Amino acid sequence: MTETVLTDPFGRRIEYVRVSVTDRCDLRCFYCMPRGFRDFEEPEDWLSFTEIERVMAAFARLGTRRIRLTGGEPLVRRDLPVLARRLSALPGVDDISMSTNATRLARSADELFAAGVRRINVSLDSLKPEVFKEITGGKLEKVLDGLMAAKAAGFRPIKINMVVLGGINEDEVEDVVEFCLEHGFTLRFIETMPMGDTGRQATGHYVDLQQVKARLARRFELLPGMMPGGGPARYVQVAGSDLHIGFITPISQHFCATCNRVRLSVDGTIYTCLGNEHKLELRPRLRAGCSDTEIEDAIHEAIALKPERHEFKENPDKIVRFMSMTGG
Ligand code: 5AD
Ligand code: SF4
Repeated sequence: MTETVLTDPFGRRIEYVRVSVTDRCDLRCFYCMPRGFRDFEEPEDWLSFTEIERVMAAFARLGTRRIRLTGGEPLVRRDLPVLARRLSALPGVDDISMSTNATRLARSADELFAAGVRRINVSLDSLKPEVFKEITGGKLEKVLDGLMAAKAAGFRPIKINMVVLGGINEDEVEDVVEFCLEHGFTLRFIETMPMGDTGRQATGHYVDLQQVKARLARRFELLPGMMPGGGPARYVQVAGSDLHIGFITPISQHFCATCNRVRLSVDGTIYTCLGNEHKLELRPRLRAGCSDTEIEDAIHEAIALKPERHEFKENPDKIVRFMSMTGG
């Protein structure tokens, strides 16, 4: 049997889909969503679990191996483990992961694990309750409870995502390294991206992660590292430990040449790039009763639109969607 792979116009193999199950979130990270924001997608425009499963089955037939559940905050969507279980069962899909803020993870960690989710990424920008509140509007304690529940449930790896913000949490990078060493978590630092007005306003706190790496190298012995997964982070390993630290540097060193993913948003739009508008609206076709072959054709059409790279640096005013709308 020949292996099916989706290949975009720039020769990149697309085998990874990030599925946003809601654009809502119970936090309001200031670099992501405006505080009083209410303009969410209407429930009738959300893809149902059956529609998501159908689209993802088509992706799987075209070679998708990995699916990540994202949002907004994915655990805000009711019965998420039910969807996770259905996606885990798709032939050819061997990796289901989730990106979460972990506020609701303590209640559902065991159920998600049982449903086949194995790897999770958790946003954690500060270990100080007051700074955490300033950035996200939420309670740090709930996130820490969620993380400990995930550890106990057996998720591996658990990756901590920290958006490094000058003048806000930049002084905590060493503390977060120590926290991850203590708990066996992987750590990734992220540069702020100019996504929507919220993201652009946060670029006033932009920190070049090359400098963070240089600073960490003074306190920890850093060896060249690798993590499986093919994502955009460049890793180092802390000598004498299992700790891998990744640097996600969309601005200072973009990684578009090895991009292997597209995104499916909650309203059924395939977004081919975080930093561009190139997209295909699938929902109207799904609801007009298209066939499975027509879904596959639409996926091919979408992949053909994938642009070569984002222009966050050259053209920071371009993206009006903020992160929670596309799915992080
Ligand atoms: N720039 C960088 N990272 C962002 N995230 C959300 N908005 C932005 C932005 N403008 C991050 C979150 C989360 C991940 C999914 O995306 O902190 O860790
Ligand atoms: Fe919610 Fe994630 Fe956006 Fe924060 S970054 S507001 S946790 S969707």
